[in-house]
Amino acid sequence: MEYLTFALAKGRLADKTMELLEKIGITCDEMKENSRKLIFTNEDLKLKFFLAKASDVPTYVESGTADIGIVGKDTLLEEGRNLYEVMDLKMGKCRFAVAGYRETVAKLNNSLDLRVATKYPNVAKEYFYQKKHQTIEIIKLHGSVELAPIVGLSDVIVDIVETGSTLKANGLEVLADICPVSARVVVNRGSMKLEHERIAEIMYGLRKTVGENS
Ligand code: PRP
Repeated sequence: MEYLTFALAKGRLADKTMELLEKIGITCDEMKENSRKLIFTNEDLKLKFFLAKASDVPTYVESGTADIGIVGKDTLLEEGRNLYEVMDLKMGKCRFAVAGYRETVAKLNNSLDLRVATKYPNVAKEYFYQKKHQTIEIIKLHGSVELAPIVGLSDVIVDIVETGSTLKANGLEVLADICPVSARVVVNRGSMKLEHERIAEIMYGLRKTVGENS
């Protein structure tokens, strides 16, 4: 039997995913040993697990180096890879929003040269160009995006909002909602055919567990 390989977005989502997988009998004791290792194996079940940076998970799954990926919808929308999105895990829930100072609302709707800071340039373009038919300037950042409107680098930000506390602590607010976000299971297109039985069985178990918990 070939290995079935999972790529997990490392961090809190990977921990929660492993808890969920354990409920359906998929375990990986090796991963529990707190180490810097990035790849783990369960020889009995012929499973491998990669811990990757979230934005790299779709790359592993599209290439087929991982069969199954677990990653946020935010990353999937930004990366735009050719994958099967098979399931909503109903965890890691948050939303994409446009945020800024309340006074910016007028500029948000009328400006021809709105400056938008974001870690998600494709999501921001999709929203402003396709949905609002508005031209904007994108300023790509890699973190702490809330800083940009405060220091005057941008007018607004496009970012994920979970509790809203980061915005609030910085005097900013949601000016427009874009879409909801949660963790998804994605599958490589070839694996879906070649490993259909094993994957379907895992999805069946996950659906039952997530359904019961949600
Ligand atoms: C994310 C996001 C917001 C914050 C939202 O950042 O970019 O900054 O979480 O969460 P909240 O609404 O509950 O406050 P992350 O913690 O990933 O750090 P980063 O900005 O450095 O990427």
